[in-house]
Amino acid sequence: MNLKINIAQLSTELEILASFSDAPAPAVTRVVFSETDLRARRYVKELCANAELTVREDAVGNTFARWLGSEPELPAIGTGSHIDAIPNAGRYDGTVGVLAGLEAIRALQRAGVRPRRSIELVLFTSEEPTRFGIGCLGSRLLASALDHSAGEMLTSDGRSLNQIRSSAGFSGPLGDVPLCDGAYAAFVELHIEQGPILDRDRIDIGVVTAIAAPASFRIFVEGEGGHAGAVLMPDRRDAFLAAAEIALSIERIARSSGSIDTVATTGVCELFPGAINSVPSRTRLDVDVRDIDQARRDMVLLEIERARDVIASRRGVTVRTEPINADPPAHCAPAIVDAIERACAARGLQHRRMISRAYHDSLFMSRIVKTGMIFIPCRDGISHRPEEYAAPDAISHGAEVLADTLASLSSL
Ligand code: GLV
Ligand code: MN
Ligand code: MN
Repeated sequence: MNLKINIAQLSTELEILASFSDAPAPAVTRVVFSETDLRARRYVKELCANAELTVREDAVGNTFARWLGSEPELPAIGTGSHIDAIPNAGRYDGTVGVLAGLEAIRALQRAGVRPRRSIELVLFTSEEPTRFGIGCLGSRLLASALDHSAGEMLTSDGRSLNQIRSSAGFSGPLGDVPLCDGAYAAFVELHIEQGPILDRDRIDIGVVTAIAAPASFRIFVEGEGGHAGAVLMPDRRDAFLAAAEIALSIERIARSSGSIDTVATTGVCELFPGAINSVPSRTRLDVDVRDIDQARRDMVLLEIERARDVIASRRGVTVRTEPINADPPAHCAPAIVDAIERACAARGLQHRRMISRAYHDSLFMSRIVKTGMIFIPCRDGISHRPEEYAAPDAISHGAEVLADTLASLSSL
């Protein structure tokens, strides 16, 4: 079977999807449940309906588009990714997995394939942590890795997830979101690498074997505010400066973990009251720490706590840490890794096994179903920036390998 990807159509669809953005092109900002996200979802659902897929949505907006197999009672084969984008992002992160997933299904349809198992495209809600502070919201819920009390606990601008999802048109109990046992027989996600290896070494396809363990937390620092002119330097308990020292210590600890695989980022810093002539009395840092080795990552988390306490007592401020998540790494299923490699070999595509340093919805899907990931190169490894770029050839190769993998898995 020689499945053909219509890369012209797929490229046009990626371009149209990128136009649903709250930032000027080439940047893409598409925060979950914003008006823009809802319009983008409508566009993707329309494409799915045109391909005669049956679309359903769950209470948190995870969207499933199913192509019925000849034995529809069998567990399906899933594929998909996300379309939400962090502020000032690029156009390929997540979207390639959704739209090339759809094109892989259309290629199978055009080739006259009738799969034995149904094939289902999944658009996961809020893979990005931008709005609710936690990544992979939709897939966490699907995998029962997040309690449905998250509906009230997670907030954005003073509104709960429950209020926001219901204004976006997604109601019903979050307790209904987890997938039942045996919903899928396998899950395969296509994604840009978001790192430099494939592009640098001119490899067509990365076959992911594991996904690094992410953790994130918030540090709240409380000092004493005051007049920027009147409070003398020796008398200050500046919450921001303590937080700045903590952020630098986080960098130092990650750099001295003994492994290049430890990474730590302080990506959010909020000051109160945030006035030029006022000493900051409160500061919040949002921190992301990852490693492919969970024990080493956890050691780094512990060292960060120690450093935080030393800095707090020296500067006379109080500190409190609120954990957001500390997830174990995921391991891809050997059977799916083999199926992807066979598909690459049959197409004569250069491929290499690799680890995903970014997290993906597959981190959670792997808890409930045999999962694999296909990576394609992106230019210079750039991602989460407007300059993110994946060449049409690279996308086409990824879609071909995905289509072949779906075909083989759906016939088992
Ligand atoms: C996903 O976007 C990640 O931050 O790894
Ligand atoms: Mn991302
Ligand atoms: Mn992504």
